[in-house]
Amino acid sequence: MFDKRFRDRLKLRQLEGLHRNPPVIEKRDGRFVTIRGQKVLSFASNDYLGLGSSHHLAAQVGKHFKAEGSSASSSRLVAGNYQTICRAEKIFADYFGYEDAIFFSSGFQANLAILSTLFEKGDTLIFDKHVHASCVKGISLSGASLKGYRHNNLGHLEKRLEAGILENKAVVTESLFSMDGDLLPVKRFGDLKKKYGFYGVVDEAHAFGVLGDKGRGIAHGVTDIALGTFGKALGLFGAFVLLPYGVKEYLMNFASPLIYTTSLPQAHALAAVDALELVEQGDNVRKTLKDVSASMGETLIREGFQVVGDAHIISVLMGDEKKATQVSQDLLSRGILAFSARFPTVPLGKAILRLGLTALHREEDIQTFVNALREVV
Ligand SMILES: Cc1ncc(COP(=O)(O)O)c(C=O)c1O
Repeated sequence: MFDKRFRDRLKLRQLEGLHRNPPVIEKRDGRFVTIRGQKVLSFASNDYLGLGSSHHLAAQVGKHFKAEGSSASSSRLVAGNYQTICRAEKIFADYFGYEDAIFFSSGFQANLAILSTLFEKGDTLIFDKHVHASCVKGISLSGASLKGYRHNNLGHLEKRLEAGILENKAVVTESLFSMDGDLLPVKRFGDLKKKYGFYGVVDEAHAFGVLGDKGRGIAHGVTDIALGTFGKALGLFGAFVLLPYGVKEYLMNFASPLIYTTSLPQAHALAAVDALELVEQGDNVRKTLKDVSASMGETLIREGFQVVGDAHIISVLMGDEKKATQVSQDLLSRGILAFSARFPTVPLGKAILRLGLTALHREEDIQTFVNALREVV
């Protein structure tokens, strides 16, 4: 019975052009990957600063694992609350300018934990309709009353804030949107926060490390809580949440996704601090990324493509799901990996090619990509 259901659903996904069958990556080397023996130029990673493919950082990670062992072997709440991790969390809180910080094994787990734990029945969660799937999962598990507002439309957010008496209200958004690639208008967001006094939760997964002074993100001062991941600009895996005093203790006591899971290993915390040092020293790398991203955006627009993206994530509008899949496959056959984001990752009928630029990309890569895209579209 179950087998039939699984088969039928997969078949339907195929018919709708929504089936997912990611290519197997045999090897990765900087901005290139190998797929079926072919060297392919990738625009599909979130390795924005190139740290995820840095031999230096990998060597540091190896050194720390050798010294500290391979596992925390316990939940944070049992015997996994290592001093190394607590110290690293303090370093992260200080760097990003928040009172406290806590590490999680993944950004998905972090969003799930904070949103489902901190908010509950009787609260109102107002959220941008394009927030990440992990935020959607977290808010829907919270029990709070949910009100979505149109993507990055802060006029609509204000309408939501004005409506009714929203006593315990929080707003959830991203600062650099993972699929659309556009930026939260932070000044306006801050003004609304002052006016309506909501609690802010901003996912800065794609901004931390890259945007703001020395990669400190763009939402500091307009949010209470911010989330970052180690798996994007910081070149590792896992996540960190920056928060006010007292909230960490609350999560340690009430957040089951944190309580009932093995802690990240101590070596990871040491590696995270190394990655943060590289982020701090990364002004030149950020400048390269900014230039290459601007160049990609401008070239695509000049060529007549419909493009959105204010920074290093650029989405090329495709619309139809089947077209997006076909374009992505045709690009692959020309040696380029570009992710076709389709429903439910993006709304139905609004499929995109989602490009992640990195500081490893060069000007010639942009030409290679745009020429290939022109050919296949
Ligand atoms: C905006 C956003 N938040 C959270 C996550 C989840 O982070 P992680 O990959 O560490 O689970 C992602 C993507 O992976 C993301 O794009």
